[in-house]
Amino acid sequence: MATKMKKEKVAIIGSGLIGRSWAMLFAGVGYQVTIYDIIPDIVSKALVETERELNKLENEGLLRGSLTAAEQFACISGTDNLKAAVTGALYVQECVPERLDIKKKLYGEVDGFVGPDTILASSTSTFMPSLFSEELKHRSQVLVAHPVNPPYYVPLVEIVPAPWTKPEYTAKARELMTEIGQKPVTLSRQIEGFALNRIQYAILNETWRLVADGILSVKDIDVVMSEGLGMRYAFLGPLETAHLNAEGMLNYCERYSNTIYAVSETMGATPRMEGKVAEQVAKELEEMVPIEKLPERRAWRDACTRQGMKLNEHLQINGTNVVLVPYESKHVAKYHEWMKNVELQELTASEPLSLEEEYQMQRSWRQDEDKCTFLVLDRQEFERTGDEIAALIGDTNIFLQLPPSDGTDGDGSVVGEIEIMIAEPTARGKRCGWEATLLMLRFGVEYLRVAKFVAITKDTNRPAMRMFERMQFSETLRSAVFHEVTFERSVDREWIEWMRSEVSSYAVIPYREEP
Ligand SMILES: NC(=O)c1ccc[n+]([C@@H]2O[C@H](COP(=O)([O-])OP(=O)(O)OC[C@H]3O[C@@H](n4cnc5c(N)ncnc54)[C@H](O)[C@@H]3O)[C@@H](O)[C@H]2O)c1
Repeated sequence: MATKMKKEKVAIIGSGLIGRSWAMLFAGVGYQVTIYDIIPDIVSKALVETERELNKLENEGLLRGSLTAAEQFACISGTDNLKAAVTGALYVQECVPERLDIKKKLYGEVDGFVGPDTILASSTSTFMPSLFSEELKHRSQVLVAHPVNPPYYVPLVEIVPAPWTKPEYTAKARELMTEIGQKPVTLSRQIEGFALNRIQYAILNETWRLVADGILSVKDIDVVMSEGLGMRYAFLGPLETAHLNAEGMLNYCERYSNTIYAVSETMGATPRMEGKVAEQVAKELEEMVPIEKLPERRAWRDACTRQGMKLNEHLQINGTNVVLVPYESKHVAKYHEWMKNVELQELTASEPLSLEEEYQMQRSWRQDEDKCTFLVLDRQEFERTGDEIAALIGDTNIFLQLPPSDGTDGDGSVVGEIEIMIAEPTARGKRCGWEATLLMLRFGVEYLRVAKFVAITKDTNRPAMRMFERMQFSETLRSAVFHEVTFERSVDREWIEWMRSEVSSYAVIPYREEP
């Protein structure tokens, strides 16, 4: 245990929502974390809360970092002494409330306690680092490391230097962020709003103008984002989107720069978010989500962030011998051919469908929130021919039983029913089913946050039953009437590690549709 822990100290100042998340992220890789808060009682409460949270994450298979929950918690301590917290620390992450007077006073105190080796990073969402560091003796060590809420699930961190921040501190902060599993970006200089909020405000301003001018309703603005732009932006930036939408970026500029310029020129002045338009926007939003329903809707939003729902529509998973790709309409004809086979119908307990019904089924797999499907390609064949249809050998699915959004079911965990079918006779017996199932299980844990898997097989399907037993599932039910056997496996740390060791190659990458 001792070898996995580090000697270096990290101080977290302020033990609210953001401070506690940072503490867990640093403890995840073994840093000695000290939490300080101005109210000692809050530190004790934060420690109790952090231990509970770490254990919960471990039980759900969501724990980050390389240590167990107990090992991580052993790295975290609390103090009511600011000097003790920051003296000798490699890194200080300040997480006090968003008030300049509080931040300035605090940095003044910290300045007296630290030496030249300590990075002083602020979580501030809005203040440029020069605003609270100018007078400090150690001002060249101060920067912003701005997280996105909730940092445990959203990895972006914006690193922002003040004009006097020395590059070695910015570089070291970036290195640390990568080490704890976050995704840092470094701004070359400080700027109001950093990057995330500048982009967010540009979108907010244009949506505001579209509503103010009576062009779109609030509801339809959301559709433009959630069913359009946002789907790309979940995994691609606007510049790469443009690059892909033409024959490269220069070609995109040639084709569209005049139009984009002309449209942008019509965008109008920066709106003030107040007055009659604010009332109208608020009214429409409250019709969509009444104020008393906000907690429920937030719980839903957080579940979506955690589970990355429907992300599989845009992702492919590369294994050693198989590649998993989204189920597209172009695959339906071959799938439909397979399912005419009576043996496959029996093994998968499926009714024969007409081609039109199969297209409907494909759409429902794409649209329904409780379903996740990938088609299985023979990797060698795919790389040789570049033809998905020729390389298609089967499919794998997870049906999700999601907790209700009001949290009424107690522990709120997600159960996933896993299915695998290798339909091409020539692909059977080559462990393609084994690998595809493991890739899917791992995706289920990491992207869909499944806490328990269920597998139901026909009692005549010996290979499938043996496979789930070897995957450490246990038989929980046998139905003589339906000739079915149910297996279950709860997700825990050891099993995740076993899965990771079994699938040596597992790369989740954006799915590039063929032109
Ligand atoms: N909450 C978010 O969504 C979010 C996202 C990104 C960044 N941030 C930034 O993170 C920082 C903290 O936000 P939060 O949401 O965790 O706030 P919070 O109010 O939940 O927690 C702040 C904590 O700081 C403590 N505190 C107050 N004065 C202090 C002092 N002088 N010394 C030590 N501790 C002190 C408070 O007791 C409290 O526990 C802010 O700068 C905020 O802008 C917040």
